[in-house]
Amino acid sequence: MALRDILILPDKRLRQVSKPVAKIDSAVKKLVEDMFETMYDAPGIGLAAIQIGEPRRVVTMDLSKKEDEKQPQVFINPEIVAESDEKSAHEEGCLSIPEYYEEVERPAVVTVKYLDLDGKVQQVEATGLLAVCIQHEIDHLNGVLFIDHISKLKRDRVTKKFIKAAKLAAKDAAE
Ligand code: NI
Repeated sequence: MALRDILILPDKRLRQVSKPVAKIDSAVKKLVEDMFETMYDAPGIGLAAIQIGEPRRVVTMDLSKKEDEKQPQVFINPEIVAESDEKSAHEEGCLSIPEYYEEVERPAVVTVKYLDLDGKVQQVEATGLLAVCIQHEIDHLNGVLFIDHISKLKRDRVTKKFIKAAKLAAKDAAE
């Protein structure tokens, strides 16, 4: 396992559309291990492979509470096959946009089809936090960030802030 760097806004790679996994081989399993290590270290509850620079349709997640046992979940090539008309709003954050939180409205219930690590087709009807998280992560696989769902004014403001921070960091590194 290896701890990987998490890409931060405005890194352009976050806007890439990730490619489906054709075969769950040792490279994919290694990627999943790295993703869990990186996600738990952050700490975060969900991570898409592109957030560590790998444009593959792989998502890791653990929605267990701190005091409970870990519940690692892997979604390979996840796809939303049905969604409710009913919407629900939830405050979201993202490891690629650290320390920024904003309420996002999404379908309250989604049915997700995906492959597990054994390559078996699975389907889940996600509600609550799982519904929020899986939609957020599938967005990542399509180059979409949660700030794309908020007002342009707010999005521009946070984007500018991160562009400025990246410039400062680059300047510090050059000196
Ligand atoms: Ni995210």
